[in-house]
Amino acid sequence: MLKIGIIGGSGIYNIQGIVIKDRKKIITPFGDPSDYYVIGEHFDKEIIFLPRHGLRHHFPPHKINYRANIWGFKELGVERILSISAVGGINPVLRPGMFVVPDQIIDMTKRRESTFYEGEEVVHIDFTEPFCTELRSAILKAGEESGIELQKLSTYVCVDGPRLETKAEIRIFMNMGIDIVGMTAIPEANLAREAEICFAIISVVTNYAAGITGEKLTTTEVMKVMNGSTKKLESIIKQVLLFIPDSRGCACKYALKDARM
Ligand code: HPA
Repeated sequence: MLKIGIIGGSGIYNIQGIVIKDRKKIITPFGDPSDYYVIGEHFDKEIIFLPRHGLRHHFPPHKINYRANIWGFKELGVERILSISAVGGINPVLRPGMFVVPDQIIDMTKRRESTFYEGEEVVHIDFTEPFCTELRSAILKAGEESGIELQKLSTYVCVDGPRLETKAEIRIFMNMGIDIVGMTAIPEANLAREAEICFAIISVVTNYAAGITGEKLTTTEVMKVMNGSTKKLESIIKQVLLFIPDSRGCACKYALKDARM
């Protein structure tokens, strides 16, 4: 059975309508994943869900064991990961509540374990297209089919957090042509590529980024928008599952070919 992983972000701890069959704890060489993997079924697909911050939301973005999380999915035989995340909107056309499917990423993190290859083996994965083009197409098709508006061709900047950004940081990001800011896509995207797993994101814009409106940013606002988006998110996720082809036609499955020194 085709296995699809879903990483849930803030406010997303399960998916209504997916029948849960099992829960699995995975131990990895990199330590413990954020939580149990919840295994469910949707039509002919196995869905494997992991709440990125843990079920009690006790891992802040900079404390998440990203390597264990992605390793666990690999161990469970997952070939595609759909990742859900909250982001701040930098491009002024992006309003809170909108969904974005980024196609590019800028890594501004400084303190994260970003590779599985720390030892003898030296690996440089190609990251020209940081997100799986086939999985992105499935998401965009699902958006069209369900009438849910999705912003495509957006650049995501990943910061360490957990603090939010300064006005100057956001101004610089805006001048660089960046559309959204979040704290988790790196190293999720690059670790998934190293694991030869297809990976793409649906980001929910939960707030205007720092300094754009002059209002103070609050987590209350972030959670309110995220919770208000749950139904729409669940419905698009279920649509995406229908559009994922059975076999992979993208290059993600060969990511390690010609990547070793
Ligand atoms: N900045 C960084 N990460 C975020 C934001 C933000 O404004 N909103 C939600 N996640």
